Amino acid sequence: MPNGTPPTRLRRIAALIAALAALPLASCRALAEPHPTAFPRPFQVIAHRGASAYAPENTLPAFREAQRLGAVEVELDVQLSADDQVVLFHDSLLRPKTRQAGSVRDHPLAELREVDIGAWFDASHPDAPKRFAGTKLAALADLFEEMGRAFVYHVELKDGEPGLSARVLEVVDRFALHDRVIVTSFRFDQLVRMHELAPELPICLLILKADRREGSVADWIERAADSGFREVGVAAQEISQEHVADARARGLWIRAWSIKSLDDMEHAIAVGSNGMTIDWPEKLIHRLLENRGSAGSLP
Ligand code: G3P
Ligand code: CA
Repeated sequence: MPNGTPPTRLRRIAALIAALAALPLASCRALAEPHPTAFPRPFQVIAHRGASAYAPENTLPAFREAQRLGAVEVELDVQLSADDQVVLFHDSLLRPKTRQAGSVRDHPLAELREVDIGAWFDASHPDAPKRFAGTKLAALADLFEEMGRAFVYHVELKDGEPGLSARVLEVVDRFALHDRVIVTSFRFDQLVRMHELAPELPICLLILKADRREGSVADWIERAADSGFREVGVAAQEISQEHVADARARGLWIRAWSIKSLDDMEHAIAVGSNGMTIDWPEKLIHRLLENRGSAGSLP
C-alpha cells in the first residue's frame, strides 16, 4: 500500500466518498453551517420590495436604499420570464407601472432589462427625495450579484409557474446564498414544491386577507405547521395576540405584512410578532432602537 495506508481505511474513505456522491444536492446543502435565520434572532425589519417608499420597488436602487437606511433583510417578488429567467416584479401585468404590454412571462429577460419602472415611480411618488426615470427591471441574479451576503432575502414566489421554484433554487445555489434566503408566497402549492426541492430553506406562508381566502387565519397556521414550514405572515390589519400564541405553540415564527401606517407598525409590535415587511424600514429601526433598554417593551 502507498505510504502504508491500511486497506480497511482506504475502503472506508472510498465508501464515504461514494455516500457523499449519492446524497441529493439538498442534503449536501443541509450539511452546511446552521441557517443564520434560526432562532434566536433579532426582530425582522424587512424592507418591502426594497425601500419601496423611496425608490422603485424591486429594483437595484430600492435595495441600495434599503441598505443605506440600515435594513439587513429585504423582501422581493419574483416571476419567470419567457426564457425562464427569474425576474424581480410584483404585478401580474407590466402596465401601468411600466409602458410595456403583457406580463413578465411574455418577454425574455433581455427585453425586460430594458423596461423602465422609474418613470412610474417618479410620477406616483412626487414627494420622494430622489428621481428614478430610466431605472430598469432586474433579475434575481443581478440583485445577488450586487448585494451578495449583505441581506437576508425574503423571496416571494409571485407567479404560479410550476418551474419557478426550481429556477429560483438554481440562482440561490449559483450564489451559494441558501443560508441567506427565506422563501415566501401566498401560493401554498408553490411553497410545497419549494419545500420538497429544498427542505433546508425556511418557508413563510403568507396568509391572504379575509376577503380573499378560504378558512381562518388559525386554519392556515395549522396547515403551515403541518407542512413543515417555518413562518407565517398575517396582514397587520388582522394579526392578533391569539395568532401569535397559536403560531408559537406550533413552533412557527409569525410576522406581519401590509403595513400601511405607523399604527399598523405599532400593532404588529404590540401583538408580539417576529417582524414585518415595511416600505420605510428606517422608521421601524428607529422605533426599535428608541425602545431599547425600556424593559419588556421590545419584541
Ligand atoms: O410581506 C409580504 C408582502 O410583500 C406581500 O404582499 O403585495 O407586497 O406581495 P405584496
Ligand atoms: Ca411581495
